[in-house]
Amino acid sequence: RTAEFPVLPATDGAASVDISTFTRQTGHTTLDYGFVNTSATKSAITFIDGDKGILRYRGYPIEQLAKNSTYLEVAWLLLYGELPTADELAAFDERIRHHTLLHEDLKRFFSSLPTTAHPMSVLSSATAALSTYYEDESDPNNPEHVELNTIRMLAKLPVIAAYAHKKSIGQAFLYPDNSLGFVDNFLKLNFGVLSEIYDIDPVMSRALERLLILHEDHEQNASTSTVRLVGSTGANQFSSISAGINALYGPLHGGANEAVLEMLAQIRDSGESVQRFVERVKNKEDGVKLMGFGHRVYKNYDPRARLVKESADEVLDALGVSDPLLDLAKELEQLALEDDYFKERRLYPNVDFYTGVIYKAMGFPTRMFTVLFAIGRLPGWLAHWREMQSDPQTKIGRPQQLYVGAPARDYPG
Ligand code: MLT
Repeated sequence: RTAEFPVLPATDGAASVDISTFTRQTGHTTLDYGFVNTSATKSAITFIDGDKGILRYRGYPIEQLAKNSTYLEVAWLLLYGELPTADELAAFDERIRHHTLLHEDLKRFFSSLPTTAHPMSVLSSATAALSTYYEDESDPNNPEHVELNTIRMLAKLPVIAAYAHKKSIGQAFLYPDNSLGFVDNFLKLNFGVLSEIYDIDPVMSRALERLLILHEDHEQNASTSTVRLVGSTGANQFSSISAGINALYGPLHGGANEAVLEMLAQIRDSGESVQRFVERVKNKEDGVKLMGFGHRVYKNYDPRARLVKESADEVLDALGVSDPLLDLAKELEQLALEDDYFKERRLYPNVDFYTGVIYKAMGFPTRMFTVLFAIGRLPGWLAHWREMQSDPQTKIGRPQQLYVGAPARDYPG
């Protein structure tokens, strides 16, 4: 069947291709508006060339954005397609600062959850709960509602995330300090202590900003595709993003940064050599896996991982700390990159490999790592939700099924 369809030529991300005249073959799956198969989606947001290790947001290389932009600037770029002017950015920032407060009742919602709850479960539950406060202003077809809830999500998710953190360590929630910018406010919400002046370390602040930028979008991965699928039903941004957070929670997706640190700690605690660990991975002994290595689309070094690795050194140097886990990670990477097993399979470190080491140096507990990924990814999810919503061809998603069950048969007796 696939032979009947012309193949869409490589587009290098160009937006000019009329996709309706072509069907892009992606394995056995084709873009088919009749089914709105979620595994085949057109989008003008992010371009990835996994063979060359290229990643661009709206045409701009990730390396340049990570170096020169702020999180909110990149968020604007993803949402609206262009970099903001200074005035646009200032107005966007100002609006977000005005929406950071959560409804006081949500405090009781947080209190009702067990202290042992994983912060990702708290994050997705509280995000879904936001919907209950804004039911009357959440019509996906009303542009004002869409704008307002985009701002609300950007303003409130970091606060929810910080509350999830504080809850998990039994500390009091702090109110947002709207005199601060996005990242500094978030750091203060997490690490500020009541009635003490909290100095934000600029190195930490810039490093976190950079990590968040690197996570802002990554085209059709499991969580983004989930946001689009849920959004295609007409569900509002809060419900759709909450679903995306749940998809991100899994160890094969956003949960991998947490799994990497656990793996490194296990190697350290076991006293086993890195070489022996690598052998066990290759022999698939006890199901042991090299977490944070390999990626479905990258057959080259993940460009984000390269930048994260640089940041890891910078942050640890600037904070004047050393971490044996970073040394272990580097040794592991070097051994793997020199080993034929990994070379033949084109397995390279991915974005999750070094992020945990930085988050740990900043003072975040391991269970917060995936939450930080979610804050990073939020602008991408919102941009995809809006892109899908504004496409007149969007229909409710309905994955195509191949029935492999029993043939028709008569009920016995
Ligand atoms: C991501 O950034 O979402 C991950 O690399 C997973 C993916 O893209 O499939």
